[in-house]
Order: sequence, then structure tokens, then C-alpha cells
Amino acid sequence: MIFVTGGCGFIGSCFVLDWLRDQQEPLLNIDALTYAGHPGNLEAAAGNPNYHFVHGDIRDKSLMRDLFQQWKPRAIVHFAAESHVDRSIAAPSAFVDTNVTGTVNLLQAAQELVQTLPPEEAHAFRFLNVSTDEVFGSLEPTDAAFSEAHRYQPNSPYSASKASADHFVRAWWHTYQLPTITTNCSNNYGPRQFPEKLIPLVIHNALRGQPLPVYGDGMQVRDWLHVSDHCSALRAVLAQGRPGETYNIGGRSVMTNLDVVRGICAMLDELRPRATPHAGLITHVTDRRGHDRRYAIDDSRLAAELGWQPKMRFADGIRQTVQWYLDNSAWVESVTSGSYRQWVEQQYHSRAAR
Ligand code: NAD
Ligand code: DAU
Repeated sequence: MIFVTGGCGFIGSCFVLDWLRDQQEPLLNIDALTYAGHPGNLEAAAGNPNYHFVHGDIRDKSLMRDLFQQWKPRAIVHFAAESHVDRSIAAPSAFVDTNVTGTVNLLQAAQELVQTLPPEEAHAFRFLNVSTDEVFGSLEPTDAAFSEAHRYQPNSPYSASKASADHFVRAWWHTYQLPTITTNCSNNYGPRQFPEKLIPLVIHNALRGQPLPVYGDGMQVRDWLHVSDHCSALRAVLAQGRPGETYNIGGRSVMTNLDVVRGICAMLDELRPRATPHAGLITHVTDRRGHDRRYAIDDSRLAAELGWQPKMRFADGIRQTVQWYLDNSAWVESVTSGSYRQWVEQQYHSRAAR
């Protein structure tokens, strides 16, 4: 069987559902159910005999050790993290606790298991660390895209915590020969993304006729990767990736934030017309502190070694995503009560329109 951490979040839930659909192998999901984890994301897995769930925190070292000893997984796909850059700017400590210490707990628990395995099983074990392109920092307009050899230069508390975790993962390979692989991917989008992130936030606000907050001039550049493509890349890396290696994963959909927001507005004008165009709700607000200007991914290693490339065109993926939010208002209602409202209040009401 395999372990997944953070399977009740946005990307983890896609990975779990795709895995249970396509594979016969059991999977144990370990999730602390923070504000970002929703058991409802995995409703479709309920009753599947290959699906197991532990409500557990990766910061709990002895629990992680016990789970590895009890279940003896052949691999772990590690998603669990504090994942939102703005929250890391507002309150960084949780990012160190979960993203760094939690990852080290998992590395230790995995290593303790692997050293008890026969050589061929130890060799076949995989620790797949799901990381981000943000560890590379920000590109100038004419710089080449991030390759796997790009220097680490994290700029936010979030990316610094992910970079730190990546370094520990590398160290466990180098020092203990734990078969680790790290993937560094670009911005994901798709169903079930928590509406603190740009795309679901804009859809959510636009449907309520509320301002669409664009940080600064909105000319920051991101490479948008559909979550189902990300998960197919992770399965390929788990099956065929080389231990000790890192792989970049990109969506080949490079756009400015303003273009993304305008595209969503145009789609909603078609699907949910209002008296005036949705783009009229766009509001430029105070920029994010330390905001990275440009990310771009060179995914040629993944393409050359594993024959992987993204399948979803952004135009199709964003239409499917907008339609999913229109069709799943009950999900949106359930995740945007209580603490979500406090976050929005704290995050946006102090951000004056520019
Ligand atoms: P998310 O915030 O939607 O979900 C995180 C999940 O982890 C939640 O289910 C949460 O309950 C769980 N979790 C948090 N702290 C935990 C802890 N201490 N113990 C156990 N579970 C805990 O995140 P996401 O967007 O799905 O991202 C998943 C991973 O992918 C993260 O590691 C993130 O850094 C990485 N990543 C995300 C993106 C993106 O665009 N969303 C891009 C690149 C990399
Ligand atoms: O690049 C991968 C990273 O992508 C992941 O590692 C992170 O977990 C994930 O959150 C995401 O980080 P970003 O900061 O790029 O995503 P976010 O959706 O928060 O913001 C996307 C861009 O939109 C960014 O330039 C900031 C901008 N933005 C965001 C919000 C929430 C706005 O202009 N307005 C907003 O209200």
C-alpha cells in the first residue's frame, strides 16, 4: 500500500480519487483536517475497500512512526503542508512546524521502516516530496525558465519552508540513501481548490458581485497547471522517477494574473451574465509583500525521461473549473463559513484600493 499525506486538501484529494479509480493498490490518507482539509472532498472514496483514513498530524512524530511500523507502506506521497503564501506572511510559524518539522518527522519514520526491510524492498521504497517552483524565487522578464539546476532563492516564508523541506529530503537521500524524489511544480488550478487562492477567490467573489482583488499592477506571471495533469505527473514520477532526483512539473500555460482574472470574468459573462460585465469588479489593491514577479517552468527532464506532458489546455481547464464552482455551491458554502470569513476580513479589508 501507499501513504498519502494531506489527501483532504485540493491536490491531495485529486490524487486520492484518481488513484482509487485507476489503481488496485490500497492507500492510507493521513490528514490533520486543518482549515484547508475537507473530508467532503473525498466523499466519493467512502466505502472503497482500498481507501483508509487516519485523522492525524504530521507534526506528531510518534504517531508517524507508529503508522509506518503498523502499515509498512511501499511509498509515501507527501502533500500535507501549509500552502498559502499570504497566510505565511501573516503568521509564519505554522509553516515551519508543518512544512519543515512535519516533513522531517516523515523522513525519520520512513527511514526507520526502510532500514528493517530486505534490500530489494528497501531499494524499491519511494518518498515522493511534493514541492513548488516558488523555491527558485523570481525570474526577470528575459531569464530562462527554471530548470532543476536553478539555484534555490525562496522569497516568502512559505517558499522558505518548502525549500527547507526539500533540503532535508535531499539530505536523507544523500546521508541515509532513503530513496527520495522531489517534484517542483507550478500553480495548480481545478475543482476543490480552497477560495483563498487567486482563481477560486475570483470566481467566488464575482458570483457575489464583490470586488476582485488584483495585487499591484496584476502583471505577475504564473504557469497554470491543471490539478489532474499534476497528479498524472506524480504517478509517473512515483512509478519511473529516479531516486535522488528532482523533477519540474509545469502546465505550459504562462499568463499574467490580470489575463487570468479577465478570462474568468469573460467566462462568467457567458455562463452567469449580470447587468454589467464582471470585469468591472476588478480592483487593484496593495501588492503582496515580497511578491514574486515571474515564474516559468522548464519541464524538459520530465518529458525526456518519463514521456510526460500536460494534456489540459488552459482554455478548457478554466472552463471546467468555473463550471465546477457553479455546480458545487453547497461545497463552496460549507468551506467559506466561519474562519474563512475572518481570513477575508483580515486579509482584504485593510488592503486599500490603489
Ligand atoms: P491545501 O492547502 O489545499 O491542502 C493541504 C492539506 O494538508 C489539507 O488537507 C490539510 O488539512 C493538510 N495538512 C495541513 N497541515 C497538516 C499537518 N500538520 N498534518 C497533516 N495534514 C496537514 O494544499 P494544496 O494546494 O493541495 O497543496 C498540496 C501540496 O502541494 C503542498 O505541499 C503544496 O506546498 C504543494 N504545491 C501546491 C501548489 C498549488 O498550486 N496549490 C503548487 C505547487 C506545490
Ligand atoms: O507556484 C506554486 C505555488 O502556487 C504553490 O506552491 C502555492 O502553494 C500556491 O498557493 C500558489 O502560490 P501563489 O502565491 O502563486 O498562488 P495564489 O493563488 O495565492 O496567487 C496567484 C497570483 O495571484 C499571485 O501572483 C498573487 C496574485 N493574487 C492572489 C490573491 C489571493 C492576487 O492578485 N489577488 C489575490 O487576492
